[in-house]
Amino acid sequence: MAEIIDGKKISTELKDDVRAEVKALKEKGVTISLAVILVGQDPASTVYVNNKKKACEYTGIKSVSYELPEDTTEEKLLGLIDQLNNDPDINGILVQLPLPKHISEKAVIGRISPDKDVDGFHPESVGRLSIGEPGFVSCTPAGIIELLKRSGVEIAGKHAVVIGRSNIVGKPMAMLLLRENATVTVCHSKTKNIKELTKQGDILIAAVGKPRMIDASYVKEGAVVIDVGIHRTGEGKKLCGDVDFESVEPVAGMITPVPGGVGPMTIAGLMKNCLEAAKMNLSQE
Ligand code: GUN
Repeated sequence: MAEIIDGKKISTELKDDVRAEVKALKEKGVTISLAVILVGQDPASTVYVNNKKKACEYTGIKSVSYELPEDTTEEKLLGLIDQLNNDPDINGILVQLPLPKHISEKAVIGRISPDKDVDGFHPESVGRLSIGEPGFVSCTPAGIIELLKRSGVEIAGKHAVVIGRSNIVGKPMAMLLLRENATVTVCHSKTKNIKELTKQGDILIAAVGKPRMIDASYVKEGAVVIDVGIHRTGEGKKLCGDVDFESVEPVAGMITPVPGGVGPMTIAGLMKNCLEAAKMNLSQE
């Protein structure tokens, strides 16, 4: 029987820590603001953006919302980003992805000032992470490191296996685990004999994007299993992850559920990044 890692509880602890610091800054006259940009009305994106705004309210961070129509031009969006980059009252800028097809995500991400890039997607943020310089880190992997540390999981010296190599999760996750002195293996769709590798993982991070793909046959006895996936499947549209929870839970040492595992940590990670953005700004004044 695995210990269930309660992401909801741990994310609240992290948000409470952020809230206390935001309050202390407010008492010194410093307000923290996050600009949130949503283009179009993708239902999942709308839910994510609303959850981010709620977390801002909880932590005392001011959210400034830009809800733009689906047919917004790339030029118009880039113009708004320029304006927010130059606005000293805005600490962080978040453009919700995916964007409509006629807008280049690469151009948009590259236009956000690395000093306000609270999503950590800008090539400069990615570069800073890979050479160990301070900078913003993608919120999901940053949240997972917090989740591991706050659950008492020792990372240094452990073999961490990451399944998935996306720019948002897999790659930054591997970099962060390396920064925490784990030995890191990254597996992906072209990896041969994948189970031989995943079964070596003391820490197994599943970020494959396939519902319930990771069953007990992938998992080492006693491993810490972190499920990044979130899918709605079946008749009742029940939520599930990349991990087949029923199969893996009896084998794992610790496991995150879906929902209530990694999901809430992503948003808490974003709040922490906004606080860091404001602190960085203050130290440059
Ligand atoms: N779409 C899905 N995940 C994310 C995220 O972490 N940040 C942004 N901006 N968009 C997303």
